Amino acid sequence: MDFSAKSAADLYSDRSADGSWKVLCKTILCPAGKDVADIGCGGGIYTLAFAKLGAKSVTGIDNAVQYVERAKLLSVDTNNVRFQVGTATSTGLSDASIDLVFERALIHHLSEEEQELNIQEAIRVLRKAGMLAIQDRSFENVLDNDAKHWIRSTLFHCFPELLDFERLRRPSEHGYLKMLEKHSLHTLAPVKFSEVRKSYASFSELEVEIMARKGKSILFELDDDQLKHYCARLKEASLGRSLEEIDQWTVWRAEVH
Ligand SMILES: C[S@@+](CC[C@H](N)C(=O)[O-])C[C@H]1O[C@@H](n2cnc3c(N)ncnc32)[C@H](O)[C@@H]1O
Repeated sequence: MDFSAKSAADLYSDRSADGSWKVLCKTILCPAGKDVADIGCGGGIYTLAFAKLGAKSVTGIDNAVQYVERAKLLSVDTNNVRFQVGTATSTGLSDASIDLVFERALIHHLSEEEQELNIQEAIRVLRKAGMLAIQDRSFENVLDNDAKHWIRSTLFHCFPELLDFERLRRPSEHGYLKMLEKHSLHTLAPVKFSEVRKSYASFSELEVEIMARKGKSILFELDDDQLKHYCARLKEASLGRSLEEIDQWTVWRAEVH
């Protein structure tokens, strides 16, 4: 998908990080007092969340100028947060200046070669004992069929061919861990968790979000009629359920010796 397109301007802002993410973050990333970099930060949802969780400083970096500009506007009142344009492989950050490099929903947009370079870039900017934390949906997460992930799983029931698209771009849990290990990092066991992306007051709120293709780049693989079909199936599936959009994620962590 083209993140620089005008139509993509608010796809990764206008919501805040859910409590489910904040609990996980505090438990396994311990951001308080740290210098944090959020690479592929989009509209800065998680950059700002790190600041609220007590990070000493947070730098949000994205290669889409429009997201960086928007994130800057949203963070005018926060003095330990800054946003800058940079790429996953060339962030513009100084050597050994960061304690925690975080990347949410970024690596499935990178080629394998870019993923390798991205790990090297993280190692360059991290201080000794610093941590690289990658939150992304693995292909195993995509296949997960738990009832609470019904909004995503209904998509693949409607359009099973999208699984081939996911197979090509999603990291496998083990494959990405191996890639981290190749870089002589100290890896920790990957953590799977369910994050509430958003809670909706009504089905029509959810429908508006889907038709705008918010927060899920895979929806750009479908045309508007296909999206309407997906919404109709979701409406049937929503009966008797709470209108919470919950996704399963994997967090890979690796420390610099
Ligand atoms: C799915 S969005 C996730 C945004 C944010 N991390 C979140 O979870 O809300 C992916 C983001 O990665 C950015 N991105 C994609 N390729 C990139 C690259 N090579 N370097 C830096 N940012 C990139 C996009 O512009 C987009 O903002």
